[in-house]
Amino acid sequence: MDVSVMITVIAILLTVGGVVAISQFIKAIRLWLWRGSGSCSSLFEPICNLSKRKPVVLGEAVASDDDDLILPNQEFAKQAHVPSFQKYLEMYKRSIEDPAGFWSEMAADFYWKKKWGQQVNFENLDITKGNIKIESFKGGITNICYNCLDRNTESGNGEKIAIHWEGNDRGVDDSLTYNQLLDRVCQLANYLRENGVKKGDSVIIYLPMLMELPISMLACARIGAVHSVVFAGYSAKSLEERIIDCKPKIVITCNAGKRGTKVINLKDIVDSASGGPRNFSIGVRNIFKNFRPQGLCLTYANETAMKREDTKWQKERDVWWQDVVPKCSTECDVEWVDAEDPLFLLYTSGSTGKPKGVLHTTGGYMVYTAATFKYAFDYKPSDIYWCTADCGWITGHSYVTYGPLLNGATVVVYEGVPNYPDPGRCWDIVDKYKVTIFYTAPTLVRSLMRDGDEASILFIHAYYAF
Ligand SMILES: *[C@@H]1O[C@H](CO)[C@@H](O)[C@H](O)[C@H]1NC(C)=O
Ligand SMILES: *[C@@H]1O[C@H](CO)[C@@H](O)[C@H](O)[C@H]1NC(C)=O
Ligand SMILES: *[C@@H]1O[C@H](CO)[C@@H](O)[C@H](O)[C@H]1NC(C)=O
Repeated sequence: MDVSVMITVIAILLTVGGVVAISQFIKAIRLWLWRGSGSCSSLFEPICNLSKRKPVVLGEAVASDDDDLILPNQEFAKQAHVPSFQKYLEMYKRSIEDPAGFWSEMAADFYWKKKWGQQVNFENLDITKGNIKIESFKGGITNICYNCLDRNTESGNGEKIAIHWEGNDRGVDDSLTYNQLLDRVCQLANYLRENGVKKGDSVIIYLPMLMELPISMLACARIGAVHSVVFAGYSAKSLEERIIDCKPKIVITCNAGKRGTKVINLKDIVDSASGGPRNFSIGVRNIFKNFRPQGLCLTYANETAMKREDTKWQKERDVWWQDVVPKCSTECDVEWVDAEDPLFLLYTSGSTGKPKGVLHTTGGYMVYTAATFKYAFDYKPSDIYWCTADCGWITGHSYVTYGPLLNGATVVVYEGVPNYPDPGRCWDIVDKYKVTIFYTAPTLVRSLMRDGDEASILFIHAYYAF
């Protein structure tokens, strides 16, 4: 495990003070601080330096101000995957001294059609020594969608809830078990396959946080296609740059959706991103030349947000998701891929020039996200987990979709904004689904604190609810 990542997370959590208590983050390190070790390993000097705060043990005292350091009690620490700082150091040491052995053990939790080759990890970051390259588990054959879904249904977790979906407006919700999620993913994967999407092809996903967003990611992964999620808040120009760069075979979108009180007509944005219907076919023309020269825009109909007949429609190109996907078979063979085959392409925001596409491959990403999810959040099968990030960002890829599902977790996916219709919405969602692990950004916490007493009171309430 990469210690610099852990330290960053701790630093973020420390800045939010009392709030950290509601997350189950890295309690092992907190326990160590609580025991008041006199000497500080140079490895953890940054933490020691940051932690000159009053330690308060959770459940034994109430934090007096937001400078307190909140620590788990012994009982809580005992049941953690990493129950002591000593144990953490042992794991860390092993990962440095024997990375191949360490990561091979982590990888053994997953299904591999064929085991990886001799070299578990390879890294060259020095241009004078050849091409820059990072490889993990090369030669291993697997599929991340299979490991997220089939592996969990086959091990008897098919009836467990995979996703609780909470819509923007109160009272709009839905949920899917692992069996149901697998069925939905297979239907879409079959549809994509039937329409010419093959291993290595790219698919742009421009969707709000509907269940269809993780479903689309998993469907692409199942057939070896490379998904590129574009955050649904991005403009037509940003979307266009990404369409031109990655030349998707298909664009998956939604006609419209609401974030807070604002209705966003996503389909219109897709239309203008392609410079009008004719330009949309950049990159799709070849595959569909026989039957769909304009390419394909698979559009999820949200009729509450916008009626179908009000949606601008390009007959040769646009297809309603609900008209075609549910008709597809729920059985879909997995495309087995090499650990170093591409999984997804995610663009940088482009605030410093042209957005750059970052390509993530399958095997190393799978093992790393699953392991960091399990250890950093100390995930247990009885947890209900909610990460407020959007799937348009890397956090949403790793800690809304892949990390949790690889661990067979129940995830809350929320479509709306955190303070709609009021600052207490997050805690209503926490109460409704009995969320035990809440993962969010300090900006959200600060903005809720700015909302004043109403949010704070609800906040404290949520604190005790854990
Ligand atoms: C921690 O504090 C010590 C003493 O104040 C200082 O020398 C050291 O550079 C600090 N380390 C880090 C990583 O900030
Ligand atoms: C296609 O895009 C080009 C610029 O890239 C633009 O000049 C042209 O008008 C667009 N075509 C249509 C049909 O909108
Ligand atoms: C559709 O849009 C409405 C808002 O207009 C929203 O409340 C709802 O959650 C959206 N999604 C679905 C799948 O209905």
